[in-house]
Amino acid sequence: MLSSKYITTPIYYVNDEPHIGHAYTTILADTITRYNRLRDPECYFLTGTDEHGQKVQQAAEKRGVTPLAHCDEYMARFKNLWQELNISNDDFIRTTEPRHTVIVRKLLQDLYDRGDIYRAQYDGLYSVSEERFITQKEYDEGGFRDVRTISETNYFFRMSKYRDPLVEHIKSHPEFIQPENRKNEILGFLANDLGDLCISRPKSRLSWGVELPFDEDYVTYVWFDALTNYISAIGYGSADDSLYRRLWPGTHLIGKDILTTHSVYWPTMLMAAGLPLPRTIFAHGWWMSEGQKMSKSLGNFIDLKTIRSHIQAVGVDAFKYFLVKEGPLFGDSDFSRQRFYQTYNTDLANDLGNLVNRIFTLIHKYFQGTVPEPGTLGESETALKNEAEALSQKIFTLLDHTNPGQVLHEIISYVRSINKYMEEQAPWKLAKSDLPAAGRVLYASLASLRLAASLFMPVLPEKMGNFFTLLGEDASQLRLTAWEKLRPGTNLKKAEALFPRFDMTSLEQDTPAPAENKKPEETPADLIGIDGFKSVDMRVADILRAERVPKSDKLLRLSVEVGDEERTVVAGIGKWYDPDSLVGKQIIMVYNLTPVTLFGIESRGMLLTAQKDGKLVLIGPQGDIPSGAVIK
Ligand code: MSP
Repeated sequence: MLSSKYITTPIYYVNDEPHIGHAYTTILADTITRYNRLRDPECYFLTGTDEHGQKVQQAAEKRGVTPLAHCDEYMARFKNLWQELNISNDDFIRTTEPRHTVIVRKLLQDLYDRGDIYRAQYDGLYSVSEERFITQKEYDEGGFRDVRTISETNYFFRMSKYRDPLVEHIKSHPEFIQPENRKNEILGFLANDLGDLCISRPKSRLSWGVELPFDEDYVTYVWFDALTNYISAIGYGSADDSLYRRLWPGTHLIGKDILTTHSVYWPTMLMAAGLPLPRTIFAHGWWMSEGQKMSKSLGNFIDLKTIRSHIQAVGVDAFKYFLVKEGPLFGDSDFSRQRFYQTYNTDLANDLGNLVNRIFTLIHKYFQGTVPEPGTLGESETALKNEAEALSQKIFTLLDHTNPGQVLHEIISYVRSINKYMEEQAPWKLAKSDLPAAGRVLYASLASLRLAASLFMPVLPEKMGNFFTLLGEDASQLRLTAWEKLRPGTNLKKAEALFPRFDMTSLEQDTPAPAENKKPEETPADLIGIDGFKSVDMRVADILRAERVPKSDKLLRLSVEVGDEERTVVAGIGKWYDPDSLVGKQIIMVYNLTPVTLFGIESRGMLLTAQKDGKLVLIGPQGDIPSGAVIK
């Protein structure tokens, strides 16, 4: 169940440099929260940083600063990135904050008083990289780095006591662990004996933690501390716990790496404290990069710098759109630059961006920029309207079935229906014979687009916000809206390209931010600058010979003279021209086109033609011009 009033991300290790994995969980959580806010504006979103532990202590020592000074500096990398990504978190919790440590100590004392925390000698395997003791079975399955055998006296949480009630809870609450495969993974894990959980470290080994309230020689172990953030941040156990009472139990979004800690350690801790368990724990899969696991040595790591270069090229919204639409919700996903920019061009520049331009241009041209009257809706308009209404409902069903990626697939597919409707109705033609009919089509198209834009708001808040500004509406106040809420008579501002096309050829270079995309707002999607025009070399040519290409009714093979040069051009005008009639004619050709081979013949260049009554007519110069003359 992702339609929840309280959504959290993991709190990220402060030492790690943020990368696409962290960005994904946070963007996903942000998008889901924003969808929920369309219905319930009070929906609350928490993220933060995990700041205690051995690795932080060591990193600080190495840099010669106090652990807290180290954390202050490093956590800013996450905070800043969330700002750059326009993340709408209500709070940012740091585990070093007193409001958190006080509650961790309170919870520890509570469980200690209830007899669920005890002291014992422990001999076991410890994974330094994960900062936790692991079982022999986990070790045998592999995947842990830097594992040591440790023997020491510690404090333990009686986790084993809660195994059966936990299994019972998982089975009776299908929405508790999602998706289904993760739930089965945990049930499999719980089918074995569940040990107790070591929750402390002697200060002699680690001092950078929360001191146990009942033994000052110990600090609490990383996970007990970290998991508690989900309730300490919202005021559990504090004098004013109204937020906690309003929001808990919440929904946790996490990656598959921390499924066990969230679905076994955390719920059993809560059970011991007599608190409600989280509503849903949703564990997504992994981002790979260019078909491989991300790794610094392969050079495919999508780190902060790379994220920023993508944002600079096509904008924050486009980055979020791709991550949510194509991300690893159920399995793993691959981030390829090719696919990222292709999706941007297809969905956002073409389908959505061009639709905005088209509708606005036509309303400005034929209705002086004023939204026309809808008149009486016909069958196709009613169908579009019904589809829009069904879509608004479907989105929340999809969220309940934990599929935010599919939400975006559905909305863009609706945008394609609007495009198709425009093509079929051709309001630019109607405007010449029946202006009210053109008005009806443009009203229906814009009302549909407006609704699609409102449903895109949670993932494209900046760009769709701009769209609503063009309509004179304040999108920040927007809730779920209705198709007919578009008011006839509204004055439309002139539309600028919301999503300028990305030049795919620039991907061949190393950096994904081509010069012409640096200032996207200034380049409307369908316009090219003078440099774009100058890059096409057009020349006058004389047709010397012409013949049909065997086995093709469309193609003619032409030999043309361009200045001193003779070239072969294959042209698709065979249906309308007899080859003999062409000899001696002057034409204009694109001279610098990459050669292509058609029916085994290499064609070097392309003739210019115009469409007339469904036919292609050759375009030639006026008067006799020497062949090879350059067109400017
Ligand atoms: N501090 C703990 C979490 C404590 S929560 C009470 C931690 N932090 S972490 O910085 O390592 O973040 C792990 C999370 O980052 C994953 O659960 C996932 O959300 C995200 N990802 C890290 N790498 C990832 C990918 N390659 N792909 C997708 N998400 C991944 O664990």
